[in-house]
Amino acid sequence: MLIDPEAESAALVYSTMIRAITPRPIAWVSTVSPGGVTNLAPFSYFNGIGSKPAALMFSPVNRPDGSPKDTLVNIRSNGEFVVNVVPFSIAQPMLETAGDFHYETSEFSEVGMTPCPSRRVQPPGVLESPIQFECEVIQIVPVGEGPLAANVIIGKIILMNIADHVLDENNKIDPAKLDTIGRMGGRGYSRTTERFELKPLGSEKK
Ligand SMILES: Cc1cc2nc3c(=O)[nH]c(=O)nc-3n(C[C@H](O)[C@H](O)[C@H](O)COP(=O)(O)O)c2cc1C
Repeated sequence: MLIDPEAESAALVYSTMIRAITPRPIAWVSTVSPGGVTNLAPFSYFNGIGSKPAALMFSPVNRPDGSPKDTLVNIRSNGEFVVNVVPFSIAQPMLETAGDFHYETSEFSEVGMTPCPSRRVQPPGVLESPIQFECEVIQIVPVGEGPLAANVIIGKIILMNIADHVLDENNKIDPAKLDTIGRMGGRGYSRTTERFELKPLGSEKK
């Protein structure tokens, strides 16, 4: 099968991409509105992009009516956000925050998550998440315009808050303790409980 994205509907292109690019990590992003209402929403168009400065990106696409999502509105207004990682234990509340909540409603209370004050940015983190990245916007890059067009938010991580219980004896993050999930297509998710190692070429000589 060949797909020419320009010749197909955005819906078909979307469903093909999210089934092909897998598993995708999930940024559970907290922000604050100019009126002080906290917002929480998941984004799997997400990844780390560099280490000096520590930087990441995620992309809220425009809604089907072309309007921006609340997360983008808030970040445009104050330039701050927190990325919370999502272990299996909080997969369900994460999903619920993708619901269509009113701008004046905080997803924290709607799904029973606990806001924990951040140290360097205004938006709170999610207490139940073992890793919170406090971030400042570097740049917002619009890619296209109208419904489903991307808005790539590039952020600098200014503080990493990592719970001790996900660390190993060398103070490195232990993937078994972290137990993050990934997003597949449709309703599908993956766990990171099954892992394997690859030896880099030439490693046996060292
Ligand atoms: C696991 C998961 C991943 C998602 N990833 C994205 C994404 O990368 N980009 C996007 O625009 N919406 C994504 N969504 C949908 C948003 O979370 C949803 O539109 C949400 O209501 C946006 O909230 P907001 O308006 O408060 O920003 C995802 C939903 C789920 C459940």
